[in-house]
Amino acid sequence: METVTITLNEREVSGYPGMTVLELAQESGVVIPTLCHDPHLTPTGACRLCLVEDERSGALLASCVAPITPGMVINTRSPRVLERRKTIVKLMLASHPDSCLVCDKGNRCQLRKIASDMGVGLVEFQRIPQSGVIEEVNPFIERDLSKCIMCAKCIRADQELVVEGAIDYINRGTASKPATLNDLPLEKSECTFCGTCVAMCPTGALMEKEMTYRGTTTTTIDTVCPFCGCGCSICLEVKDNRLVRATPSTESPVNHGTLCVRGSYGYDFVHSPERLTTPLVKISGDFQAVPWEKALDAIATEVKRIKETYGSDSLAVLGSTKCTNEENYLLQRLARGVLGTNNIDNGSRLYSSASRVGLGWSVGFPGTTNFLDELEQSPVIMVIGANPTTSAPVVGYTIKRAVRYKGAKLLLIDPQQTRLSSFAHLWLRPRIGTDVALMNGLARVFVAVSMILEEFVASRTDSFTELARSLETYTHDYVEEITGVASQDVQLAASIFAGAERASIVYGNGIT
Ligand code: FES
Repeated sequence: METVTITLNEREVSGYPGMTVLELAQESGVVIPTLCHDPHLTPTGACRLCLVEDERSGALLASCVAPITPGMVINTRSPRVLERRKTIVKLMLASHPDSCLVCDKGNRCQLRKIASDMGVGLVEFQRIPQSGVIEEVNPFIERDLSKCIMCAKCIRADQELVVEGAIDYINRGTASKPATLNDLPLEKSECTFCGTCVAMCPTGALMEKEMTYRGTTTTTIDTVCPFCGCGCSICLEVKDNRLVRATPSTESPVNHGTLCVRGSYGYDFVHSPERLTTPLVKISGDFQAVPWEKALDAIATEVKRIKETYGSDSLAVLGSTKCTNEENYLLQRLARGVLGTNNIDNGSRLYSSASRVGLGWSVGFPGTTNFLDELEQSPVIMVIGANPTTSAPVVGYTIKRAVRYKGAKLLLIDPQQTRLSSFAHLWLRPRIGTDVALMNGLARVFVAVSMILEEFVASRTDSFTELARSLETYTHDYVEEITGVASQDVQLAASIFAGAERASIVYGNGIT
C-alpha cells in the first residue's frame, strides 16, 4: 500500500494518502488538543485549536483538515503553536459566561479542561456578553447558547449521523448560532431528542435536562443499551451507586457515537420508587411482600410438587429478552440441570420465530445476515413492514445515511407515512394486509423479465419451477387490483431491486 512519510516532532512517521496530520499524530501517540474534531464527523477546522506548524513553509495548519504530504516537517509544540493555541482558548473564554462554577458540565467541559491544561487563567481580552438560556419545555435537553463555541458538532451530528436536519446555523457573523428552523424550541422542530448532540457538545451549551447537578461521576460502566435489538454500546456514568447519565460509546461499530431518545434518557426506571425491590407472593388472593428466603422456598416447594406429580416436562422456563446472554445461559442450566427439562425458551427467539423459520428455510441461517455497516454500503435498500426510525432508530440512521450520503436508493413499502418516506426513491403504499400479493407480484416480474441468476437458481435452490408456476396468477392487473399499487411502480421497484449490484432487505413485524 502506498504510504506518505512526514517528519513529526523530529521523528519520521508514515501514513496513508488522504490521512490528516491530526490522524497521523494520534496514531503516533502525539497529543494535539481538539474541540471541533470528532472521528465520526466530517472535519471542518472550525475551532483552530489543533494548530501545528509546518516548519518548511512556516505555515500554521489546522491539523484536523490538513492532509499529510510527502516531506512535511510538522512541529506540534513549537512556541508559536503553543502561543496561538492559548490565544484561541482565551478568545473563546472571552465570549464565554463566567459561570464555570455553576455549570453542570463541570469537569466534563472540554474547553475548561483544555484551558486548564494550557495554563490559561485570567483572560485579559475585553469580554463579549452572550445571550442566555433558551427556554424550552422538552424534558430532555437544555440549551444555553451563551456557552456555545460554534464548533458545529451538534449540527454535524444531527445532519451527518442521525440525519434529521433539525438544526443548522442561522444568522451571520457574531449573530450566528446553531438553531432550529426559525429558531423555534427543539420540541417544535424535527428533533427526536436522541441526545447525540448533547453527548458530543464539548461545553455546557447542550446539557441533559433531568440529570443535572449530580456532581462528578466516579465510575463509568461500558454496557449494551437495554432497549431495542440494535445492541448499541453505551457508557453508564455512576455516582454513589446511582445512575447519573448514559452516553453513546464512541468506539461502537453499531451506533458510531449515536443513540436514540430511549438509549440516552430512558433510565428513570432504574431508581424508580415504584420498582419492586422485594418478592411478592400471593397469599389468600393478595400479593404480599415476603423475604427472599420465603419466596424462594415457596417456588422450590411448588416446582418440586409439580415435577413429582406430573414429571419434569410439565415445567418450562422462559427467559426474558432483557436478560443478558450469560443470564439466559444460567437459566438453561437451571432448566436442564435442576428441573430436568428441555423446555427452555427465550423471548428473542419466540417473538421472531416466524422470521427465524422463514430465514432458516430460505437462506439457511435463522438470523440477521449482515452488519449495519454493510447495510450502509448497499446501493439499494428495500424496507417493508418496518419503521426502523421508531422501533430501531440506529437502523433508521444507517438507512438515512446510506440514502443521503452514499447514494443508495430506498424502496419503501409501507401503507403509512414514516420518517423514511421523504428519503424514499420509490414509496409503494399497498393496502393493509396485501404485502404477500405485492411480494408475489415483484417475484413474478423478476421471473417474467428474467431478472434472476439462472446459475444460482439451478445450483442453490429447490422447487423453483413450482414457485414460478405459483406466481403466474400475479399479473400486473391482478396485483394492482389487490394492493392498490400501480403496476408500473411494481415493475420499477422490481427493476431497481434486481438491477442493483448489492441489495438489502430490511423487514419488520409488519410482515412477519
Ligand atoms: Fe481542528 Fe477544531 S479540532 S480546527
